[in-house]
Amino acid sequence: MEFSKRLELFGPEIFAALNDKVVEQQAAGRSVYNLSVGTPDFPPFPHIKAALAKAIEDDENWKYSLRDIPELLGAVCAYYERRFGVSGITPEMVMSFSGSQDGIGHLGMALCNEGDLVLLPDPCYPVFMTGCRLGGAECWYYHLTKENDFLPDPDAIPPEIARRAKLMLVSLPANPVGSVGTPALYARLVAFCKQYDILLVHDNAYSDIVFDGAVCNSLFSTPGALETGVEFFSLSKSFNVTGARLSFLVGRPDVIAACKKLHTQIDFGKFLPLQYAAIAALEGPLEPVRAQCKVYEARRDALCGGLRAIGWDVPDSHGSMFVWAPLPAGYTNSMDFCMELLDKAGVVCTPGSSFGPSGEGYVRFALTMPAEKIAKAVAAIAASGMV
Ligand SMILES: Cc1ncc(COP(=O)(O)O)c(C=O)c1O
Repeated sequence: MEFSKRLELFGPEIFAALNDKVVEQQAAGRSVYNLSVGTPDFPPFPHIKAALAKAIEDDENWKYSLRDIPELLGAVCAYYERRFGVSGITPEMVMSFSGSQDGIGHLGMALCNEGDLVLLPDPCYPVFMTGCRLGGAECWYYHLTKENDFLPDPDAIPPEIARRAKLMLVSLPANPVGSVGTPALYARLVAFCKQYDILLVHDNAYSDIVFDGAVCNSLFSTPGALETGVEFFSLSKSFNVTGARLSFLVGRPDVIAACKKLHTQIDFGKFLPLQYAAIAALEGPLEPVRAQCKVYEARRDALCGGLRAIGWDVPDSHGSMFVWAPLPAGYTNSMDFCMELLDKAGVVCTPGSSFGPSGEGYVRFALTMPAEKIAKAVAAIAASGMV
């Protein structure tokens, strides 16, 4: 059988060998420090679980939901005001997705045509490329360089490219590079997209995980952004609910309507108990979210500070749950380095090459273990002699 040509857009599964090795080492009873996958190790908050458990008891909630219930849309609007200080979000400016992964993966299909150009960060979270390519769009990468603190620089995008671009994807705090935006940078991005009539798509997955006193809000905290952009807003990382697949697209009503039109062809709506769980998260206390951020910061210190202390010059991450580490001297291939690190230290990290052309020469660590265990992983790296 000849399968869809679309599948040829995606390369072979490059992680298979690394994953097989992890399983092999665990089966042999060896300690493996898995700092590869970006899923929080913290439990979901009790009020979210309670709302889900209560809603599950009602048989009516097991029927097709067909839509986002008004209480959920209202809760997102109120959350934007309470958490980000953004007023003016109305229910027709909100739709749910089963995770931002789902939303971004479908974005190109709703918004792009063959030959459209999309501006993407490099390195970036891989679904950015997937979503655009599935829509037939061409990807143009703007580079996140060490010299520019791994931040987008709209001035470095040639005007002839900007004139052709239809969408620009930006995600700060950034996975995998750990950089964090400022109000001034968002203002420049909004002005750039306005000038060239580009839809600015902001992926806001990590605004609650920022370090050293920085504050991250929403794209819409920037004046003028509501006319220029949309934002993916995920509950996954702030509320430790990655498996529940709760996220939203917020912003320009015409874009939301286009995405809804596509989504209603292929989905019958989010499971109602999950909608009630999302409402509980959005209306619940935010103090535990802030407390958790401090724990991530202590882990960042344990990893970055620990690695520097053993001679690996890894800069501090400023936000997200990741650390972006240049390969130590003597290494040039990130996949080979990851395999050797697993072999010699039992530490699993992700090769930078999986995040786009500029990712080679780096590896990504996820801050998904207690600081004491991170210290043990650092000690294992030191003992491996690789640094
Ligand atoms: C930058 C970024 N965007 C989106 C996602 C996907 O989040 P969700 O769980 O909402 O699909 C992730 C997950 O790691 C991410 O790092």
